[in-house]
Amino acid sequence: MRSLLRVTQNVLRASERAYTNAANPDRKVAILGAAGGIGQPLSLLMKMNPYVSDLALYDIQGTPGVAADISHINSKAKTKGYAGAEQLGEALKGADVVIIPAGVPRKPGMTRDDLFKTNAGIVKDLITAVAQHAPTAILNIISNPVNSTVPIAAEVLKAAGVYDPRRLFGVTTLDVVRARTFYAEKKGLPVADVEVPVVGGHAGVTILPFFSQATPFQDLAQEELVALTKRTQDGGTEVVQAKAGKGSATLSMAYAGALFADACLRGLNGESDVEEYTFVESNIVPELTFFSSKVKLGPNGIEKVMGLGELTEFEEAGLKDAIPELKASIAKGVEFAHSN
Ligand code: NAI
Repeated sequence: MRSLLRVTQNVLRASERAYTNAANPDRKVAILGAAGGIGQPLSLLMKMNPYVSDLALYDIQGTPGVAADISHINSKAKTKGYAGAEQLGEALKGADVVIIPAGVPRKPGMTRDDLFKTNAGIVKDLITAVAQHAPTAILNIISNPVNSTVPIAAEVLKAAGVYDPRRLFGVTTLDVVRARTFYAEKKGLPVADVEVPVVGGHAGVTILPFFSQATPFQDLAQEELVALTKRTQDGGTEVVQAKAGKGSATLSMAYAGALFADACLRGLNGESDVEEYTFVESNIVPELTFFSSKVKLGPNGIEKVMGLGELTEFEEAGLKDAIPELKASIAKGVEFAHSN
């Protein structure tokens, strides 16, 4: 993951570079759910991204206003709003990257799985349209529960005969962003220099930060390790509670979603050494068909899924606890895709 400093500098220079018509190839990005709490700031950040030439903002409502607003920013991406199912095909046509933050967020007391009933259907419908109108796009699924919505997307794409596992991603970047922030804070390190692997999935105990592989490495007392792991796993809930019924993480999620989409675009453009943690089809853990780990990104999406490295006893135990929940969430998604 690029340092925060580089990203900030990139954003600050975005409008300047957007005018230079630099050698970046044209890239269309479509955001589905663009008028929502995540969708709006994410749309703003993608409008600032110098790799984007066309930005399609789709939602069932509200996108004409969001698009009119964002389109006045003097950066390269031509921005257009699309509202309502009849405009979805046009929004998707020619998209290189499709980012999906559509769906309901959590309220206090809810787990991500409680969102399944509503969001599974939304993701299924949107992916059905993607299969028809943008079958080769790179897909970034943000809608929760990611551990189930990504398997749903895979099954829908398979049924349409257009599934390419190298192009389907569940966005878990916010877990990595949180682990880096919390670890740096705890150990008094400059956060821009900190890396922490986070693997597994995107819900509770399936979120597995590996602080033994953090850089720069600092010893953690057992109670520090337990507290940091729990805070990373419950980071989303911390925000849900603080927002007290007004939704879940939106601004930090938009930031994380923009980082991940930026990495996908750089991979597409042939930049070397682009690596991110993300929930993908995988055989890293033999019992599971999907798992989040570090992947290398290239012009066709995933070039390589990396292994987990050496785990401590604590991390082995966390992985053991995560497997049954991940297995059940994946199965739930697959079953939904086939039965509805
Ligand atoms: P929100 O309710 O503010 O926005 C959701 C947007 O989706 C709304 O504008 C709504 O009109 C739109 N929408 C609903 N059905 C749609 C459809 N069929 N097609 C297109 N758009 C549709 O919710 P928020 O806070 O933006 O969260 C969105 C999703 O992101 C939730 O599922 C939430 O749980 C998830 N999330 C994921 C995170 C991650 O790390 N992957 C982190 C935080 C939230």
